[in-house]
Amino acid sequence: MRRIALLTSGGDAPGMNAAIRAVTRRALYHGAQVMGVRRGYAGLIAGDFVPLGPRDVGRILQLGGTMLGSSRCAEFRTDAGLARAVESLGKHGVEGLVVIGGNGSQAGAQALAQRGFPVVGVASTIDNDLCGTDVSIGVDTALNIALEAIDRLKVTALSHQRGFLVETMGRNCGYLGLMAGLAGGADAIVIPEVPRDPESVAAELRSAYVRGKSHALVVVAEGAAYNAERLAAYFAEHRERLQFELRVTKLGHVQRGGAPTAFDRVLATRLGAAAADQLLAGSHSVLIGMQRSEITATSLGEIVGQQKPLNPELFPLAYSLAQ
Ligand code: F6P
Repeated sequence: MRRIALLTSGGDAPGMNAAIRAVTRRALYHGAQVMGVRRGYAGLIAGDFVPLGPRDVGRILQLGGTMLGSSRCAEFRTDAGLARAVESLGKHGVEGLVVIGGNGSQAGAQALAQRGFPVVGVASTIDNDLCGTDVSIGVDTALNIALEAIDRLKVTALSHQRGFLVETMGRNCGYLGLMAGLAGGADAIVIPEVPRDPESVAAELRSAYVRGKSHALVVVAEGAAYNAERLAAYFAEHRERLQFELRVTKLGHVQRGGAPTAFDRVLATRLGAAAADQLLAGSHSVLIGMQRSEITATSLGEIVGQQKPLNPELFPLAYSLAQ
């Protein structure tokens, strides 16, 4: 392959820049030319390509976000959009593509692969909901940002003997919420994978006070049926009976914008380099991830649309330690 392209797609994740650098420099090292595609699949359809040399990807390793930009592109999910994307790649003499992104982005990669275009995916999403990898680029940074917020909220919660609700991102996956709750010593955790009603959360908080705790902190994943907003509304409605109020902090996009941790930089570097190696060696239609500390290539067909299960031991572990 003489020329490859790469793009970042979907929600940005800290470490995407490190992956862009690794894909580019590794492909150049192998003697291939590299084109960056701006704004993800939207840029692919529009033919928004830029040649990348080694200096173009300098000084980005430590930066959050993505220097190429990203998008969520509805047009790419249509036959016409897909056809235009393949046409753009052909027009620019591109023979293979690396897609750095999460679930939706890898579904797009799979659609291109099914059209016969050589594609390799790189697992990157703060949600950690992508199968074919134990951990995705950006998860560690997002988790540490959530944790820092939780630690700070605990300090103020202690000073005022207050209850706090912290909402983490993660779409329909409770990974970030569960891990942040576990690492932050939450008194209760609410995630989509373990449905629960607000009365059971209230009972847990009440029992925390009864057991002598001077604060109560609940970590809620945004995808839970009772997310922070709904829980807060319930608690406000039943305030007299429940006898405590909760302050709500929604972390939202704050979790996405941080500078990547050492773990994310190393992960992104290893996955990005492996993606370039795979593509240039003629192996494609795979997602590059890390499983049991090894870099792995899993067929896109096996992972797209699959639901990644959470470790079932962790929720009861967090519950038992909140005592
Ligand atoms: O997939 C990453 C993510 O941050 C999710 O956790 C969240 O639900 C979603 O993206 C938010 O999307 P947007 O940035 O388009 O609002």
